[in-house]
Amino acid sequence: MKTELYVHASEGSVFYFRRRISVSVRYPREGASVVVSYTAELPPFLDVFAIRSRHSSYNISNVIMTVDAHTSVSGINIKSSQNRLLIKNGRVVNDDGMEEADVYVEDGIIKQMGRNLIIPGGTRVIDATGKLVMPGGIDPHTHLDLEMMGAKTADDFYTGTKAAVAGGTTTIIDFVLPQRGQSLIEAYSNWREKADNKVCCDYALHMGVTWWSPSVEREMEQLCGEEYGINSFKMFMAYKDAWMLDDYHLYLAMETCKRLGALPQVHAENGDIIARNVEKLLAAGKTDPEGHELSRDEEVEAEAVNRACVIANQANAPLYIVHVMSREALRALDFARARQRQPVYAETLAATVGTDGSHCRNACFRHAAGHVMSPPLRSDPNTPQAMVDALANDCLQLVGSDHCTFHEKDKALGQGDFTKIPNGVNGVEERMAILWQRGVNTGALDPCRFVAATSACAARVFALWPRKGRVAVGSDADLVVWDPRLQRTVSAANHHHALDFNIFEGQSVVGSPQYVIVNGRVCLDDGDLRVAEGYGKFLKTPVFSPYVYGGEAPMPQTPEPYPSSPMPESPSRVTNGTPTNELNIVSKQMAGTALSSGCSTPTGRKMREPGQRDLQNSTFSLSKEMEGADTKTSVRVRNPPGGKSSGLW
Ligand code: URP
Ligand code: ZN
Ligand code: ZN
Repeated sequence: MKTELYVHASEGSVFYFRRRISVSVRYPREGASVVVSYTAELPPFLDVFAIRSRHSSYNISNVIMTVDAHTSVSGINIKSSQNRLLIKNGRVVNDDGMEEADVYVEDGIIKQMGRNLIIPGGTRVIDATGKLVMPGGIDPHTHLDLEMMGAKTADDFYTGTKAAVAGGTTTIIDFVLPQRGQSLIEAYSNWREKADNKVCCDYALHMGVTWWSPSVEREMEQLCGEEYGINSFKMFMAYKDAWMLDDYHLYLAMETCKRLGALPQVHAENGDIIARNVEKLLAAGKTDPEGHELSRDEEVEAEAVNRACVIANQANAPLYIVHVMSREALRALDFARARQRQPVYAETLAATVGTDGSHCRNACFRHAAGHVMSPPLRSDPNTPQAMVDALANDCLQLVGSDHCTFHEKDKALGQGDFTKIPNGVNGVEERMAILWQRGVNTGALDPCRFVAATSACAARVFALWPRKGRVAVGSDADLVVWDPRLQRTVSAANHHHALDFNIFEGQSVVGSPQYVIVNGRVCLDDGDLRVAEGYGKFLKTPVFSPYVYGGEAPMPQTPEPYPSSPMPESPSRVTNGTPTNELNIVSKQMAGTALSSGCSTPTGRKMREPGQRDLQNSTFSLSKEMEGADTKTSVRVRNPPGGKSSGLW
């Protein structure tokens, strides 16, 4: 049975449905008999249908929905008082310090921070007692709606960003990867078309330089302009006969990046050596997924890391190495960085931190192939710990996901020939929880360093900072209320991306987002995911990032202070109260430790300068504010190397 619901709505209204339904939405045009119909098959349970701007040409005052009789629908107009939000009693964590502060958000921007704020009545309040309030994650490395190796990724910009938000990430940076010979601008436009109406959170783009010609150089220049907003280019030293550039063209591409004030990125593996090793392995009958890592061992990655650094140095260019996957590569990076004239930033992945290459030897082809990616997950079981340690000592600065998922039928293309297994794994949703579990819960990283690795450093490097990657007045209200004691099990049974497979299957993590706020909108609401398709925006990234090329980054614009007289639409004014005794006690206990202290901001330039705070010797503890709280799980903080035990929290 069908029924019609008459719902007051306007552009921007968002409706929540309690179960999967087919809904027909009509937009009666005021003063006219024309009725515009729009039918949508809603995604599963608790998803969101957003009335998007493409309907804004109609003067919408009411929406008529035809839905199943027993469907419960509630509408929230995000342009009403719901655009005001106060996150109260939490501890704000930035990459350079922590403070006890409430955060007041209006119209998608952080407007006030501190205690005893004066805020308008009717504001929604989220109580973050015992929780951390951090910048929403920035995943600097995703592949959504990508065709590669004869297959298309399972996740598009809707499912991928939905999963991102579920995990605490509020901005992704995806890679435009043109075909050989394809115009870069044309590929850029394709990506914008694929993404703009689908993204549930903001996104930016890197551009792949997958072939070279004078026209490529000209297009790189155009892409760096205001119209397109690209400031980073990825070059491949692997994928021979597909995306790989030889050293001469890599050198030209890096020189071009330097001239344009863009950041060159490299996929560092020696594609020629891999090609020869593949010939030998296949000839010897080694065709199963294990052959993938055998064809490209750690030395093959480390050599390319070193070569990329040498070429960047010759071009006097900064460099960003994507997906560093091995201990040999870390050693090469340390060695090269000591002589580098310009900064070298290096990213590792949730996959490397959270699992290892032993899975590629699993007897089940599906399981093994599901872990195939490049550079490969390493069989050395010490790799995950080495990656976390490298994040702590600033050899690595960022953690991405390289989220690039393929359905089982696509991974099966490589049955009988490992070279045909489409490369890629999941991670956009798990990235933050996995790093928290492996890094913070073990005592290797403090929350400031966690913020640096998961958002702030990406924001700085790609010139999105301080709008993104920072909890500060004037910054975008992309926020995560992180519950450091929330215990859950990562599984394909409960994740939000499109695949029915998860490389972190069965892992227990303690620490996850409770609320995720995207541009002021609560998209994860005490565990309920309420994303809106097409809600995110494209972010242009300007060239000459101050963090990379020197110079001062702009500070967030401080908004006008609140008027002392009541605001017209808010007759009652409330304060959010005074700090509790508990918080005063916490503040005292934290004084002199991590509170607004010298938490590390990665430099990406060299190893730590003398006198800089060494996180390996951190006495960081989250324990005190958690004491007496309703503990879901206790975690003993491992004695950090050279440091002291921090007890239970
Ligand atoms: O295996 C991977 N990493 N797939 C995505 C493409 C790339 O190289 O980043
Ligand atoms: Zn790559
Ligand atoms: Zn990638």
